[in-house]
Amino acid sequence: MTQTKAFAAQSPTSGLAPHNIERRAPRPDDVAIEIDYCGVCHTDIHFAQNDWGVTEYPVVPGHEIVGRVTSVGPQVKAFKEGDVVGVGCMVDSCRTCSACDAGLEQYCSNGMTGTYNGEDRHDHSITYGGYSERIVVSERFVVRVPEKLDIKAAAPLLCAGITTYSPLRHYGVKAGHKVGVIGMGGLGHMGVKFAKALGAEVTIFTRSESKVGEAKKQGADHVVVSTDEDQMAAVAETFDFMLDTVPVQHDLNPYLNCLTYDGTHIIVGLLEPVEPPLEAGALVFKRRVLAGSLIGGMPETQEVLDFCAEHDISCDVEMLDIHNINDAYERMKKGDVKYRFVIDMKTLKNG
Ligand SMILES: NC(=O)c1ccc[n+]([C@@H]2O[C@H](COP(=O)([O-])OP(=O)(O)OC[C@H]3O[C@@H](n4cnc5c(N)ncnc54)[C@H](OP(=O)(O)O)[C@@H]3O)[C@@H](O)[C@H]2O)c1
Ligand SMILES: [Zn+2]
Ligand SMILES: [Zn+2]
Repeated sequence: MTQTKAFAAQSPTSGLAPHNIERRAPRPDDVAIEIDYCGVCHTDIHFAQNDWGVTEYPVVPGHEIVGRVTSVGPQVKAFKEGDVVGVGCMVDSCRTCSACDAGLEQYCSNGMTGTYNGEDRHDHSITYGGYSERIVVSERFVVRVPEKLDIKAAAPLLCAGITTYSPLRHYGVKAGHKVGVIGMGGLGHMGVKFAKALGAEVTIFTRSESKVGEAKKQGADHVVVSTDEDQMAAVAETFDFMLDTVPVQHDLNPYLNCLTYDGTHIIVGLLEPVEPPLEAGALVFKRRVLAGSLIGGMPETQEVLDFCAEHDISCDVEMLDIHNINDAYERMKKGDVKYRFVIDMKTLKNG
C-alpha cells in the first residue's frame, strides 16, 4: 500500500479538499503510474454533487489521466517503467462477456468498473480517480500516449475525446454529412474537431453569443445560437447527425426538428429522463433516430490517441492548480472554460 495525496468531496455540498488515500501494491497484471495531469470532466461535478444518486463518499474524481509508469507487475507485457500512458473512465470489466470480447468494455454485461466510485472486482474497495498523485491499473485498461502529443492536452482525450470520437465513428460520419454539435464545452469542442477531421460540415449550437467567434476558430463551419428561434428555424431539417453534449435536462424537440429524414440525434450528456417530453411524431414522420453513446472501448481509446497524433488534433486546455478546483467547477457550471481544465499534479505534490 502506498499513501497517496488526493482531493476528495466528502458530501454533495462539501466541495473538494485534500484527502489521503492508499494505492494497492501492483498485482501481476498491474501498471503503477505517477500522475502528471488530469482533465476535469463535467461528470466529475455530477459525482461530487451526487447528481445521479450513486456517489459513495469520499469520492476522488478524475478520469482523464496521463502520467509515467513507475513499475509493472510480472505479467505486464505492453508497458515498462518510464512509458507515458493514459487511463480513462474504466479500470476493469468482466473480460468474458460478448461486449468485453468485442473490445467494448464500457458496455460490459456485468458492469464495467469505473475509474472512480467503482467497486474493485478483487478486494471490493471503492476506486479513487485521478485527482491524486498516483494510480495502479490493470494493463488492459492503460493506453499508450503517442510521443507526438503534448501530454497536457492529451489528458482530455481519455474521456472528452473518446466520448465524441466513438459515436462519430460508429455512425460512419464522413465527407458529405452535416453534423451539429450541441454545447461548446469539453466534449463539444472535441466533437467539432473530430467531425471536421472526418470530413463533415460542422455546425456548433451554443447558448453563448460570446462563443460564436471562438467556434469558428475551432474549425466549425457555422454557428447557431440555440436560444434564437429565428436561427433555429433557419436550420430546420438540415442535419444528418446531432451530437448532444448538454449536461442538464433540456428540450430535445427543437433539436430533433433540425435533423433531416433518417437523421440521428446522439445523446452523450444527459442521463436523466427527457424533460419536457419528446414529441414522438418528430421521430415517426421523418424516420429519425434517437441514440445514446458511452465513452469508448479500450482498443478505440488507443485509436483516438493515435488518430489525434496523426491528424495533429489536441484539446484546448486551461491549466489548473488543484487548490482552485472548486472555482473551476463553478466556472464549468456557467459554461465558462476554454475548453477543458487540466490539473497540473505538481500543484498537489508540492502544495
Ligand atoms: N456519454 C459519455 O460517455 C460521457 C462522457 C463524458 C461526459 N459525459 C457527460 O457529458 C456532459 C458534458 O460534459 P462536458 O465535460 O463536455 O461539460 P462542459 O465542459 O461543462 O460543457 C457542457 C456545455 O453544454 C452547454 N450547456 C451547459 N448548460 C446548458 C444548458 N442548461 N442548456 C444548454 N446547454 C448547456 C454549454 O455550452 P454552450 O455555452 O456552448 O451552450 C457547456 O459548455 C456531462 O453531462 C457529462 O457528464 C458523458
Ligand atoms: Zn468524463
Ligand atoms: Zn464484460
